[in-house]
Amino acid sequence: MSVNDLSSYWMPFTANRQFKAAPRMIVGAQGLYFQTSDGREILDSTAGLWCSNAGHGHPHIVEAIQTQAADLDYAPPFQMGTPIQFALASRLVGMAPESFGQVFYCNSGSEAVETALKIALAYQRARGEGTRTRLIGRERGYHGINFGGISVGGIVGNRAMFGAMLAGVDHLRHTHDPERNRYSQGMPAHGADLADDLERMVALHGAHTIAACIVEPVACSTGVLVPPAGYLQRLREICDRHGIVLIFDEVITGFGRLGTPFAAQRFGVTPDIITMAKGLTNGTVPMGGVLTRGDIYDTLCEAAAAGAIELPHGYTYSGHPLACAAAMATLDVYQKDGLFERAAAIEPYWQNAIHSLRGTRHVTDIRNLGIIAGIELEAGPEGPGTRGFEVYRRCWEAGVLIRVTGDIVALSPPLTVEEHHIDRMVETLRDTLSSVD
Ligand SMILES: Cc1ncc(COP(=O)(O)O)c(C=O)c1O
Repeated sequence: MSVNDLSSYWMPFTANRQFKAAPRMIVGAQGLYFQTSDGREILDSTAGLWCSNAGHGHPHIVEAIQTQAADLDYAPPFQMGTPIQFALASRLVGMAPESFGQVFYCNSGSEAVETALKIALAYQRARGEGTRTRLIGRERGYHGINFGGISVGGIVGNRAMFGAMLAGVDHLRHTHDPERNRYSQGMPAHGADLADDLERMVALHGAHTIAACIVEPVACSTGVLVPPAGYLQRLREICDRHGIVLIFDEVITGFGRLGTPFAAQRFGVTPDIITMAKGLTNGTVPMGGVLTRGDIYDTLCEAAAAGAIELPHGYTYSGHPLACAAAMATLDVYQKDGLFERAAAIEPYWQNAIHSLRGTRHVTDIRNLGIIAGIELEAGPEGPGTRGFEVYRRCWEAGVLIRVTGDIVALSPPLTVEEHHIDRMVETLRDTLSSVD
């Protein structure tokens, strides 16, 4: 392809001009490997974009999508249903913490976040707390790229170009404290008290104005910030004390990434709403979802007149048959292959291997939990992000796909990863870091 052939596609979250001058093209994927247009195999250390938890091209998932496309390609989701939507919902509720009762479908993590925020607002209103309209997010949080998500999100670069955001949003401080927690293995020891920021918001704004608080249990896209021990428990207690809906954005942490169905189970903290996407369909067909506590649904139903639509919200592709089929097959694979247990079993090996990079040139911190790792580098002389990108580029040349946010390397391979894959990821990174300026 000539450079001109690449000009029509405006690529997302990509330095378009830089990419088009030196493209990286993927044409196939199987198991833990991508195939490139120049015939190379690339080891996938990122499960695509945190989503291909069962690896690529799983035959059971492929077949389910093909069969569903032939049987029922589409049915409108408003005022009618398709059996597979209900079957999937029962299965998802069955995997969620006990108090959860329903799931609402959408098509991405960003839509799941918008949906969760709207459900929280509607629930507060339905239970007679209509003054609760404020939303609390957290600095460095990533909740997708729609207006609600960037408003509660805390990544400056994703907000700066886009105006005034939603009104009535405030942010907790982030939990990153390298001075006290550098090179923590698993959950850092210091920082549970940062949850008290929510008490500060209550003191400032009044609990009667706050509808919901949304956090990622592990803040991944900002460079893997693992919650300090006790932090999420404390947030839960404060929400309970003040009638605030607690939303866990589990778009990444759901579906085994932490060795449990959801992070809620790993941390033993039950939120009121859980968002999901990505691993729900193993990344094969776009799908998101919002799990809610049973009484949230009941409250909205009781507040609406008989025959009325209880929640005026939904998407043309909510519960799309292909997405539901992909999700059902994905859950089969997770279950039959015991992938969540597998992730838990390999976590100690993963942790040791990743932390063996301590002392490697440029590395200033290493963080991990479940099958996730963040390796922070000192910024290069040409400014923030340039060294990170060069490491990314060189690893790609060496046949390993990593992810970088600025100068932080983030790794999250499929849960089918084996020790020899981990060794290759770590050795490639070690060699690359040693040779890059
Ligand atoms: C926690 C979280 N929420 C929301 C999103 C947005 O998901 P999507 O890109 O599917 O819209 C992401 C994406 O990485 C995420 O990590």
